[in-house]
Amino acid sequence: MAHLGFVGTGTLADAVIRGLQTTAAAEHTYHLSPRSEGRSKALAADFPQNTVREESNEAVVEKSDIVLIGVLPKQISDLGRLPFRADQIIVSFLAGVPVDVLLQQVAPATRVVRMIPLPGVEFCKGPILMTPSDASVEELFGGVGELVIPARESDLDTISMATGLMSATFQLQNTVIDWMKSRNIADGVATPFVRSLYSGLAELALAAERQGHGLPPQNYETPGGLNETVRAYFNRTGWFDEMTKALDVVEAHRRTLMKKS
Ligand SMILES: NC(=O)c1ccc[n+]([C@@H]2O[C@H](COP(=O)([O-])OP(=O)(O)OC[C@H]3O[C@@H](n4cnc5c(N)ncnc54)[C@H](OP(=O)(O)O)[C@@H]3O)[C@@H](O)[C@H]2O)c1
Repeated sequence: MAHLGFVGTGTLADAVIRGLQTTAAAEHTYHLSPRSEGRSKALAADFPQNTVREESNEAVVEKSDIVLIGVLPKQISDLGRLPFRADQIIVSFLAGVPVDVLLQQVAPATRVVRMIPLPGVEFCKGPILMTPSDASVEELFGGVGELVIPARESDLDTISMATGLMSATFQLQNTVIDWMKSRNIADGVATPFVRSLYSGLAELALAAERQGHGLPPQNYETPGGLNETVRAYFNRTGWFDEMTKALDVVEAHRRTLMKKS
């Protein structure tokens, strides 16, 4: 059994803890920062058998074997005063903050892993991007998502640009729902249909990947049918090219943010 310490128990850490608690990682003890008062109190109340809201960040770090950092990137300087130890593993959720910078904040700890879980981790769904490889961290998180471990830190940054597609994907679904509603389909019918449609497609794509074959879109359409019509329209109007451009834009935006920090 290990002691897991959370410094920064915001939206993401909350989802991570709730996901971990549904896996074999429920055998561990969870030490939470007293910050994020509402969330840390709720987590301690929901998991009283193994979760403690500590009196300070210092207490969290002192009691933990693995310290998980979930503050915002701009709050990183708050970490410098904490009593990290050389024997600890540090897992950072901070988007865009390189391992080199983290090492300065958590010295004398040297075993630092950058990780990008996503909100679906609460339901043990979705990718968990991390680097470098670390057996203990992989064992801990193996049950809560699909571990993706690029060898180079720069690849983690590149892959993470795709996480900028989350809210746009929801807007895409909402657009389809709104179209149905404009055709007098009740919200209670349109919404579950569309959410479930996209969920099923995601499962289909994952199954194809696990079976080692690709996802040629033409295999999922009838010549002259609905799907071919939509895809041809999107190709004709440059819709897929816009997706590439959006990723370029988000990459440039991240570079600007990193220069400012
Ligand atoms: N949300 C996502 O989907 C997502 C995905 C990938 C990566 N990330 C990364 O994960 C990190 C957290 O994101 P988030 O969405 O969870 O943000 P968030 O909800 O704003 O959580 C940040 C938390 O840090 C706490 N905090 C601030 N300073 C602190 C300190 N000195 N000691 C202890 N706690 C402190 C805040 O508590 P108070 O409320 O008390 O100020 C807040 O609850 C970010 O670095 C982000 O880049 C997030």
